[in-house]
Amino acid sequence: MTPDRRIPGDWFDQPVPGNVEIHDEAYVETAFSFLLYRSQLAAGVRIGRGASVYLGTMFDVGRQGRVSCGAFTLVNGARIVCDAEILIEDYVLISWNVVLMDTYRVPADPALRRRAVIAAASGEPRRVDGHVEARPIHIKRAAWIGFDACVLPGVTIGEGAIVGARSVVTEDVEPFTIVVGNPARMVRRIEPGETTP
Ligand SMILES: CC(C)(COP(=O)(O)OP(=O)(O)OC[C@H]1O[C@@H](n2cnc3c(N)ncnc32)[C@H](O)[C@@H]1OP(=O)(O)O)[C@@H](O)C(=O)NCCC(=O)NCCS
Repeated sequence: MTPDRRIPGDWFDQPVPGNVEIHDEAYVETAFSFLLYRSQLAAGVRIGRGASVYLGTMFDVGRQGRVSCGAFTLVNGARIVCDAEILIEDYVLISWNVVLMDTYRVPADPALRRRAVIAAASGEPRRVDGHVEARPIHIKRAAWIGFDACVLPGVTIGEGAIVGARSVVTEDVEPFTIVVGNPARMVRRIEPGETTP
């Protein structure tokens, strides 16, 4: 990063927010990934050593949100919606169009939801915030989330687990297992040394 917190060669002419920590040996393709970032914490996003954050990734982080991408994690165009905490451990692989959300941001009650969308129309920034409870997400070491998958509030994905493409993960995933579908269900365990899929 340059002294004014711009990413060298970035097509998006804005600095990375001051409370985003990017390790010297990490790679972030563009500061555009922080367009929706509003965290007011001392370190609202931390990106660890050797981690890569590619084009298309959006850190949609609320005022009290905290996201951590561990060492050598690879985030290839995910939407990360966080009002509490999303902890991604080392060596995690997150494919394109994955959505990680620790909050729905809109209430279930239609009257409350209507109030939230009306408030958004005059809000600054202009975003829906229904003051809904957020529940942290934890993705453990070396897990792999396939493209278009969605991980919902409160979920923990175990070490080394695989989430199949287009799955919707509503419950915790056991370590070293493969889950697929909507809602995601375990199809099998991963054997040590296995090279498939
Ligand atoms: C999850 C995945 C890795 C599993 O691969 P696999 O171990 O070879 O699994 P199989 O193909 O043997 O499938 C096992 C079962 O799960 C089902 N299944 C596999 N992937 C599925 C998916 N994404 N959604 C729904 N069902 C799925 C299969 O139909 C099969 O069901 P059956 O036993 O009733 O026949 C793979 O299917 C997948 O989703 N890969 C996407 C990888 C990706 O996102 N790459 C992007 C680059 S990082």
